[in-house]
Amino acid sequence: MIISLIVAASTNNAIGKDNRLLWHLPNDMKYFKNTTWAMPVIMGRKTYESMDNTVLHGRFNIIVTRQKNWNAGDDRVQIANSLDKAIELAKETDCKEVFVIGGGELFKESMSVANRIYLTRVHVTIDGDSFFPDIKETDWKLISDAPFPKDDRHAFDYSFQVWDRKK
Ligand SMILES: NC(=O)c1ccc[n+]([C@@H]2O[C@H](COP(=O)([O-])OP(=O)(O)OC[C@H]3O[C@@H](n4cnc5c(N)ncnc54)[C@H](OP(=O)(O)O)[C@@H]3O)[C@@H](O)[C@H]2O)c1
Repeated sequence: MIISLIVAASTNNAIGKDNRLLWHLPNDMKYFKNTTWAMPVIMGRKTYESMDNTVLHGRFNIIVTRQKNWNAGDDRVQIANSLDKAIELAKETDCKEVFVIGGGELFKESMSVANRIYLTRVHVTIDGDSFFPDIKETDWKLISDAPFPKDDRHAFDYSFQVWDRKK
């Protein structure tokens, strides 16, 4: 199974602040939905709560928490007490790919087991309190890079990049 990370990060790798996203980019939301559709998605407990406990429909939602009795408030989600357990649950779906969708803590922990990164690079330097790890070019190869200019619905230039782990 391909283990992928999918993230939108600024030039300085910021991904969030005060448990919120830093921008509203409708095309990125569409890209996220299309890319993860029908696949398992793994997220940290704080990211789930940052979305007001909203289940991402059309996908297998797996929430990671160390709390033994934590309740997601929705029985459509699965709960895992470790990243390994979450990946195990994802494998049970028989899907070809699983997506770690954030946030900062989970990205940091899953970087070493990931094979692919879908990075929406948002071309702005911005203040944040949650960050994506550096993508080291010794370990990762840029496979595709599609740039889009800002417009009346997108406040910043952005690029859809795909990175694969070097063999
Ligand atoms: N730009 C983007 O693409 C993007 C995507 C997603 C999120 N975000 C942003 O990221 C921020 C949230 O990130 P965050 O780093 O604060 O939190 P997070 O990674 O979403 O969640 C952290 C929590 O996940 C659980 N966890 C993490 N690693 C675990 C492990 N190995 N085993 C078991 N549980 C584990 C813990 O929950 P417990 O404390 O319950 O044990 C931990 O407190 C928000 O600002 C959000 O908007 C941005």
